Amino acid sequence: MARVIVVGSGIAGLSTALFAASAHDVVLVTKGALADGNTRYAQGGIAAATALDDSVTLHAEDTIRAGAGLTDPAAARVLAESGPAAIQSLIGWGVRFDHDEGGIELARALEAAHSRARVLHAGGDATGAAIEHALVGALRATSVTVLENTLLTDLVLADAGATRAAGIEVLLADGSRDVLLADAVVLATGGAGQLFSHTTNPALATGDGLAAALRAGVATSDLEFVQFHPTTLAAEGNFLISEAVRGEGAVLRNAAGERFMLGVHPDAELAPRDVVARAIAAEMAGQGGTPVTLDARGIDRETLASRFPTIMAACAEAGFDLASGLVPVVPAAHYMMGGITTDLDGRTSLPGLFAVGEVARTGVHGANRLASNSLLEGTVFARRVAAALAGGLDKAAGGLPEQRSPLEQRSPLEQRSPLEQRSSGVDRGELQRLMWRDAGLRRSGAGLARAEALLDDRAKASTARPDTRDGVETANLLTVARAVVAAATARQESRGAHARSDFPTPEPSAPSRNTATTHATARATTSSGRPLQTQGS
Ligand code: SIN
Repeated sequence: MARVIVVGSGIAGLSTALFAASAHDVVLVTKGALADGNTRYAQGGIAAATALDDSVTLHAEDTIRAGAGLTDPAAARVLAESGPAAIQSLIGWGVRFDHDEGGIELARALEAAHSRARVLHAGGDATGAAIEHALVGALRATSVTVLENTLLTDLVLADAGATRAAGIEVLLADGSRDVLLADAVVLATGGAGQLFSHTTNPALATGDGLAAALRAGVATSDLEFVQFHPTTLAAEGNFLISEAVRGEGAVLRNAAGERFMLGVHPDAELAPRDVVARAIAAEMAGQGGTPVTLDARGIDRETLASRFPTIMAACAEAGFDLASGLVPVVPAAHYMMGGITTDLDGRTSLPGLFAVGEVARTGVHGANRLASNSLLEGTVFARRVAAALAGGLDKAAGGLPEQRSPLEQRSPLEQRSPLEQRSSGVDRGELQRLMWRDAGLRRSGAGLARAEALLDDRAKASTARPDTRDGVETANLLTVARAVVAAATARQESRGAHARSDFPTPEPSAPSRNTATTHATARATTSSGRPLQTQGS
């Protein structure tokens, strides 16, 4: 039986492990506890065309429209077509979606840029938690080996020319390193919201898989497209206030009490996410930086309490009553549309390496992800990765026909190094603040150049191989930050989530896929060697 390592335990990693469990010796590696991850914070739900008034075509069209001209139509079609079966798989694993009042039909919510109410939810606004809980339970009943508190630090490449993934190097809870070898590695490590000082993502969203891939010279695309969620509670932690609240009828008001979105977009508060987020930022700038407010007073308390119990509780904890008052909201970094370039079966440019979920760039989100497509993406493409693995590892692991950065040196294996406790030497808070300022909702050539210079400077001063968990994560954020800034610099237009004041409109001749990154500090590990340095690409 071939061994497959799956890294990450959100919906993408758990689904991959569940789909692959019967055919392979699956080892699931996760940096925290099995139930930790971004998935459990997802609120609004999971989009799928399950109702009679809806269709796969409409869902695919909405996905393509949201992507601002860069969504791959084939990927959107695969996602939408596979939606109903994916929901059945989730139900089979024990997810209990909410039903309508009759108790027979699945309840469906409307979110921004969807032409139909098609967002399924569970526990009101606790959809991610319900999915995570069910999938963890289902996984526990399989033969999958679970390694918790095991942080991916680098990919291990096979000896002969380092031409394929041969496993991973990890940092264990006691601070030691280990190498886990496998026939295939699936990265399902999620996003990197911690790049920014304001994010909906939990502390663990530090881009570990993406950073490892960048160091190994694996092809990535569209890293400039970072989605900012328009409505998070303007309080420490930026608690997400689901778009579904606006879908139920809540509106946004500025300091003067005006519904400013009416003058911005025909869909007002349900305009695409990037439009709403930037309009809020502009409104805030015009009112001295104070948050705008979410007004849900038009929705009755009973509905709010049953649909949004988690959000009601979070608002109450911060001193706001969603049913009777105005709640201050601000945008925050939420989701990365770009990532490791994959085909529609999760294959990357490195044979033996697959990527799925937020860490992958299938092309399904283009320049702006449609709300509630991310949970669906995680499980739909997981099934396809498992099918590709089942089709035979050699064939499955064929790799995309793209050039990787050349690997230059090899040296003997360091199987397990002693605890050295080297931190990254990088101030994470400073990095987050500069990314928020210069690579956030609004960018400019000058701001990006300033960010690049500072990040280069910090990279030069940083520790080559940090040994603490915080050090590894911060180094990963630095790697990803440099790549995001490089990609944002290269895209000289405004499109979807990427807005530049110096190039304020879409540019028809701009590349549909942006492969700019910084590989200058790329590093990987061979199955018989210490870390390798790779040349810039
Ligand atoms: C939300 O509930 O607004 C977030 C859903 C998503 O990001 O898809």
